[in-house]
Amino acid sequence: MMAGRGRLVPCMCLGLFGVLCWVWVSFASFPDEQLPLEALDAVDRAAFQPQSALSEVHFASISSYAGPGNTDRRSNKELPILLWWSGGLFPHFPGDTERIDCGTSSCLVTSNRKVQLYKRTASIIFYGTDFRPYEAPLPRLRHQTWALFHEESPMNNYFLSHGPGIRLFNYTATFRRESDYPLTLQWLPSLDYLLAPVTVSLDEKNRLRKEGLAPVLYMQSHCDVPSDRNRYVQELMKYIQVDSYGKCLNNKPLPEHLQDTSTATGEDRSFMTFVSRYKFHLALENGLCPDYMTEKLWRPLHQGCVPVYKGSSVVADWMPNDHSAIIINNFPSPKALADFLKHLDENDDEYAKYIEFKNFKSITNARLLEALETREWGVNDMSKPNYLNGFECHVCDQENARLAAERAYKRAPTKNKPPQPKMANNSHMGCPLPRPGYGDVKDLPADDEWLQIWPQDYWQSLDQAEGLESLIRHNESDPSLLWKHIQSIAVSRARGKH
Ligand SMILES: *[C@@H]1O[C@H](CO)[C@@H](O)[C@H](O)[C@H]1NC(C)=O
Ligand SMILES: *[C@@H]1O[C@H](CO)[C@@H](O)[C@H](O)[C@H]1NC(C)=O
Ligand SMILES: *[C@@H]1O[C@H](CO)[C@@H](O)[C@H](O)[C@H]1NC(C)=O
Repeated sequence: MMAGRGRLVPCMCLGLFGVLCWVWVSFASFPDEQLPLEALDAVDRAAFQPQSALSEVHFASISSYAGPGNTDRRSNKELPILLWWSGGLFPHFPGDTERIDCGTSSCLVTSNRKVQLYKRTASIIFYGTDFRPYEAPLPRLRHQTWALFHEESPMNNYFLSHGPGIRLFNYTATFRRESDYPLTLQWLPSLDYLLAPVTVSLDEKNRLRKEGLAPVLYMQSHCDVPSDRNRYVQELMKYIQVDSYGKCLNNKPLPEHLQDTSTATGEDRSFMTFVSRYKFHLALENGLCPDYMTEKLWRPLHQGCVPVYKGSSVVADWMPNDHSAIIINNFPSPKALADFLKHLDENDDEYAKYIEFKNFKSITNARLLEALETREWGVNDMSKPNYLNGFECHVCDQENARLAAERAYKRAPTKNKPPQPKMANNSHMGCPLPRPGYGDVKDLPADDEWLQIWPQDYWQSLDQAEGLESLIRHNESDPSLLWKHIQSIAVSRARGKH
């Protein structure tokens, strides 16, 4: 899903000039005269609201079901508040405020932005896809932490892939295993999902091959993506037959009974059977990042087809064994990959090795088994919390521990240490600069569509991250000053001062 991030019109220059040029465009569209000074004043006045203002917040159906480790007996009025800045994701209803009783402590969670500047508001939770630096809650109060939830594609917001962007957050839940609350296997429902029997037998697949079915399936309708997968697949198609049914590089119509888009994207049975007839599924993510893996990878494994994968550079770490997926990065060229696929296509024993993991004993990856066993959230599993509730509880327990440590330190500064600051870093996201799916960036024509969008998007989001960092450092209250800060960073950089 691509959020409307109010992306600015990209200009046609590249590299460092792209950055400067964009700054100029953005500044021109937000002239100084339009800065809302009254709004600034309103924020100031709200900054030190007495605690009693909380009574305005409506408390909906509050029921307590504290876990065994939670002895928190405080009333709702005493609990720290967590504010979901991205209200659309607030994982409670009805109402906009709720008490949560977590593993070791309790909090109030709300999506009511009125509490932004309250003393009791300990943390603000953001959804990465929706995070817009020019709408960030400012001024950033020293006592408030920021928490990031971002399970979606890196392409949705490259802001988070830059050091100055991600370091603004204290807690993260991302697809990276290094994040505080990792969602790495979010698209893998269970071990049983992997172990499901193959949908179409190898004999049947071979029979269909003789009837002219291609060995390789490609099915994508989102074509202009930072991984630039089409460019790779187009080259691959020169060396091996690929049936492509989606909008991207389409060379075959879907059968009529599958043309309904709701069927073609879901886990619909007839659709699943249709794609399962192929020996190999091209599984290229829309954005490349360590540990970003989606259903494109897990679904063919479930069906007993072999994914030909490009996405996470460390995908091998999560595979059932070392011969269950074909990893595009391991091949020097699309031609070398095609040769290998043809070899497997012609050798049943070799192909069958890629399906061996369907026998549980062949799953040798302890990391995979352990992660599935120990994760506390479930996927379509009503007996486990979902990861939104899981993450807010993680933040709640962390914040209560920090507050307790702060109180202990204040009471007896000689006996207790102050809590250490905690912040995220590039290992929590850090997705690389998009590169062409095939070939070298310097060989692309200047009017190449991919080139005009993604490298610029990436560098523009670095400008925005530096701009927001500057706003916070200057204790600004008005996030729309972002453009002004970006411009002054660019100017001082151009003068060699930065
Ligand atoms: C949270 O992160 C900010 C920005 O990186 C940092 O200045 C602050 O000290 C951190 N807060 C805590 C409580 O660790
Ligand atoms: C980044 O964060 C991780 C854990 O969140 C930590 O282990 C690591 O040391 C940090 N790296 C740097 C360079 O600070
Ligand atoms: C930051 O700004 C707020 C309100 O705009 C003000 O009340 C506060 O004192 C400022 N903090 C610092 C450290 O200057």
